[in-house]
Amino acid sequence: MRNTILSVFILATILCGVLVYFIPQTGTIILLSISGLLTLIAIYDSLQTKHSLLRAFPLIARLRWFFEEERDKIQQYFIEDNLNGTPINREKRSLVYQRSKKQIETVPFGTQHDVYKKGYEFVKHSLFPRDHHQIAGERVVFGSDKCTQKYNGSIINISAMSFGSLSKNAVMALNQGAKMASFAHNTGEGGISPYHLQGGDLIFQVGTGYFGAGRFDGEGKRVFDDKIFKKNAIRPEVKMIEIKFSQGAKPGHGGILPAKKNTEEIAQIRAVTPFTDVNSPPGHSAFSNYDEMVLFIQKVRDLSEGKPVGIKLCVGNNDEIEDMIKTFALAGNYPDFIAVDGGEGGTGAAPLEFSNYIGTPLIEGLVFINKLLIEYGLKNQIKIIASGKAIDAFDVVKYLALGADAVGMARSFMLSLGCIQARECNLDTCPVGVATQDKDLVKALVVEKKNVRVKNYHNKTIAAIKEMVAAMGISDITDLKPKHIFRRRKEKVVNLEEVYYLEKELI
Ligand SMILES: Cc1cc2nc3c(=O)[nH]c(=O)nc-3n(C[C@H](O)[C@H](O)[C@H](O)COP(=O)(O)O)c2cc1C
Ligand code: SF4
Repeated sequence: MRNTILSVFILATILCGVLVYFIPQTGTIILLSISGLLTLIAIYDSLQTKHSLLRAFPLIARLRWFFEEERDKIQQYFIEDNLNGTPINREKRSLVYQRSKKQIETVPFGTQHDVYKKGYEFVKHSLFPRDHHQIAGERVVFGSDKCTQKYNGSIINISAMSFGSLSKNAVMALNQGAKMASFAHNTGEGGISPYHLQGGDLIFQVGTGYFGAGRFDGEGKRVFDDKIFKKNAIRPEVKMIEIKFSQGAKPGHGGILPAKKNTEEIAQIRAVTPFTDVNSPPGHSAFSNYDEMVLFIQKVRDLSEGKPVGIKLCVGNNDEIEDMIKTFALAGNYPDFIAVDGGEGGTGAAPLEFSNYIGTPLIEGLVFINKLLIEYGLKNQIKIIASGKAIDAFDVVKYLALGADAVGMARSFMLSLGCIQARECNLDTCPVGVATQDKDLVKALVVEKKNVRVKNYHNKTIAAIKEMVAAMGISDITDLKPKHIFRRRKEKVVNLEEVYYLEKELI
């Protein structure tokens, strides 16, 4: 095959040469140049020793590389239907775009979902629907009896994403949108940048790298620093603190900031060396057992002058989580909220095995935590924030019904900024300026336009939740219960109270 291909190109070049000899015009000269160039590439391919496929099929094999590179785009543009795209299907992506732009949201000709398929979920409407303008429960008060600066927040907030994984324009647009619609924006573990300080409420996340909350000790280890933390925690924009244990996309693995995205500015904010990979450790150095954890939570609360302090985790070892909640109950001291992230959660960059095979999916994790809080009498003190592919009103209604008090959204807010799910967040080549530090690409995201979309998406989703709850005949969102969500199991339909609360062995 190799010789045949080479012979074809060489022959074509000779023919073009003859053509130029007899008809010396621009067109024939261009033809000769092209075929000459292709022949040279084919000869190079056949001689190189790195790629066997190229040696066997000079030049032609390059097509494979091209299609492999463009595979995701071809899939998304030409093959994917409304329901089979991953991680977020086209139907949901389109809904976010429509809500963000305040465009028409109705669908024609009926559902595309197979309502008889196992796993299909729905809620039931009432003969006596409520007025959706009168639905209560879109705000929630965070803060246990241990906290003196309670926070009245929205039931939908922006889940943790750092400046570093996101561009400065993306962070600014998110924060300004949060300000416009009065909801909270989680800083992510990269600390507080000037772009977070646009007036929107902040949840200041403290990860294991203690960026914005710590420093390097004498041995080069990142350690928590009371002074540095306090300076940031008492900022008026900071409404709550979140101590991060793990996130669903890479539980048990620290944060990853690829060298390309670690610019001088980001490195300065995080107090690390620019253009190096920044991997925060998998665990905290500030405490090493449950009792120390309780003390640390209280110390953080004191340093922040009484603001609500929460922990974020993806449920892992069930016994450990139960021991932790038991310790909270015995100590009579606890976090003000637990943010439960599902194994299906998103990330800027994660090792494949961690993304695919580690961590409890959200529903099971959420139900598990909710049951423990009820069992140990802490449900009225500790709020639950659930995150994991919450995009439309049904997702939010389902998570609230299963025990969450509020929902965190990361990727749906990225979509509201114009993310097209190109899935290049780890490469610094994000084509729409959301997840990149490339100056030219960042400019693609116009803050003054996208901040409004962030606001619209939040407000329209809240409105859709109220409409859904009103149709169910419920007047307060906080009255949602697991029994309100139904799931098809073969020919039988069950409610989620039966699945998760009565059939205990399933969790
Ligand atoms: C680009 C990106 C960056 C993220 N950075 C953080 C982070 O710094 N800290 C964290 O706890 N979670 C981080 N996450 C996880 C999200 O906060 C969230 O828990 C997860 O994506 C699930 O929400 P989603 O399904 O709505 O995206 C990140 C997610 C994305 C997509
Ligand atoms: S467009 Fe692609 S690279 Fe940019 S944020 Fe979205 S998924 Fe990531």
